[in-house]
Parts: sequence; C-alpha cells; structure tokens
Amino acid sequence: MNILLIGFMGSGKSTIGRKLAKLLEYSFVDTDSVIEEDQGCSVAEIFKYGGEECFRKMETRLLQKLKNVENSVIATGGGIVLREQNQRLLQEIGKRVYLKVPQEELQKRLKNDRNRPLLKKKDPETVVQKMMKERVLLYKQAEYIVDAGQRSPQKIASEIINKLCNEDHDNNF
Ligand code: S3P
Repeated sequence: MNILLIGFMGSGKSTIGRKLAKLLEYSFVDTDSVIEEDQGCSVAEIFKYGGEECFRKMETRLLQKLKNVENSVIATGGGIVLREQNQRLLQEIGKRVYLKVPQEELQKRLKNDRNRPLLKKKDPETVVQKMMKERVLLYKQAEYIVDAGQRSPQKIASEIINKLCNEDHDNNF
C-alpha cells in the first residue's frame, strides 16, 4: 500500500511524510525532490524557465511512474491536485491523506518563504487565500483528512497510522 500526503504548501507534507515512512518502515518519496533531481535544477528554476505548465507536466509524468511503487509514503507538491488526470492517478497509486492546516496558520508559516515560486508575489497573503479557495475542495477528496495545525509531526504521523489501521475513512466509502 502507498500513502500520499496532499495539502497546501507549508502543511508539513515532507516532514510528516518522512516521519510516517520511518514509523512504517516504508520508502519515502518527495515529488518535488524527485523532479529536482531528474531535472538537475530547483522547482523555482523550472517555474522560471519553463513555466508552471511545464512543471505540472513533470508532476503528471512522475505520478505515472509512481503507479509501480509499493509500500511508499509520497509527499506531493501542493498543486498536484489541480490536474484532473493527476487526481485519478493519485487515487490509483494509494490512499490520499489531506493534511489540513487553518489558513491563518499557513499564512504565518509561509510569510517569509523565499523558495516557493508561486509566493514570490507582492501580496503573498492574498495569493494564499485565493489558492486555498481554489484548492480546498480538491484536497478534501482525500480518503483521510487529518488536522495538521498545531501538533508535532510525530503525533500527526501516529494519527495517520491509526486512521489507516481502523480504515476510518473520512471520504469515498
Ligand atoms: C506548489 C507547491 C510546491 C511546489 C511548487 C508548486 C503549489 O510544493 O510543488 O512550488 O502549486 O502549491 P510544496 O507544497 O511542497 O511547497
């Protein structure tokens, strides 16, 4: 079985994903990092020279490859849910867990971010607000929804394991 962590930038997908993989003795995959390694440059550079669409195509190609992995925790980029094709692929690959963080908390975490290309705007707060509005329903399609607001990565990872063990689905019965 694979577990896919989805959610907005700054929701802790990579940190929690690493912890979760360790607890389960699963492999850990971070889609942004795999793309960066494959391309030999950063996500920011891909956005700068190829544009967002180019990056989104890379995400889709990577998801197609990930259909073959097993026993992996996969931390995804926050925008991976935007393509319908990706939503189907995510569903095929494994169980989706949405790491839900209140918007005010995300704003705080992302306030001084210098790396994420989509936040390099004059008014990042409004950008976050607008993007959350566009994406929240897509994230909520996940089989499991976990509150990732204030608790430690360890606690959140344990809750994910409990939910998966109890098949305590929040969605898609
Ligand atoms: C993006 C999120 C980023 C990265 C890229 C685009 C997004 O990943 O994939 O900058 O559209 O939300 P994180 O969610 O890991 O920051």
